[in-house]
Amino acid sequence: MNNKNGNIVLIGFMGCGKTTFGKWISEHYNMDFVDTDEYIEGKYKRLIRDIFSEDGEETFRDMETEAVKELGETLENTVVSVGGGLPLRKINQELLKKTGIVVYLETSKEELVRRLKNDDTRPLLQGCDLQERIDSLMKQREDIYKSAADMILPTDGLSFEEMYRTIMGIEGITIF
Ligand code: S3P
Repeated sequence: MNNKNGNIVLIGFMGCGKTTFGKWISEHYNMDFVDTDEYIEGKYKRLIRDIFSEDGEETFRDMETEAVKELGETLENTVVSVGGGLPLRKINQELLKKTGIVVYLETSKEELVRRLKNDDTRPLLQGCDLQERIDSLMKQREDIYKSAADMILPTDGLSFEEMYRTIMGIEGITIF
């Protein structure tokens, strides 16, 4: 796989572990780390939930596209954790592919419900039946995540070390 700038881009549903795993890789394998949500919050000095409630989702999606354009031009040797909805736009998918190897962290719905049941930071999951919301968003997104990715990495039951080794091909790359 061609990954000349050495970046790893992690995509997947909210709660799939992009940020936690991305930080772990950066700490253990001497890489930098960027999270697109943190980047946007830092750039605009506003919380994501305030952007959603004050300006609406579309404005946030525009900010994501700007962010991925800016980051893609400069990053090297970096793990990029990408907000769960960012890969939905076609232009973002192209920009992500140019940024580095795109890895979809595939996590079961049961595991996502377990991890997200007490979350109050994600606007799309508030005031709803969590399981139903995850089901319907997953239905819209699953195929997009898969086609946006260079590699699909099932995460349930795997340690971070096993996940990392799979990405690096040490235990046989699972590229479809
Ligand atoms: C979103 C995912 C969130 C954040 C925002 C919208 C989504 O990021 O960007 O709440 O549409 O899936 P995480 O995937 O890091 O939770």
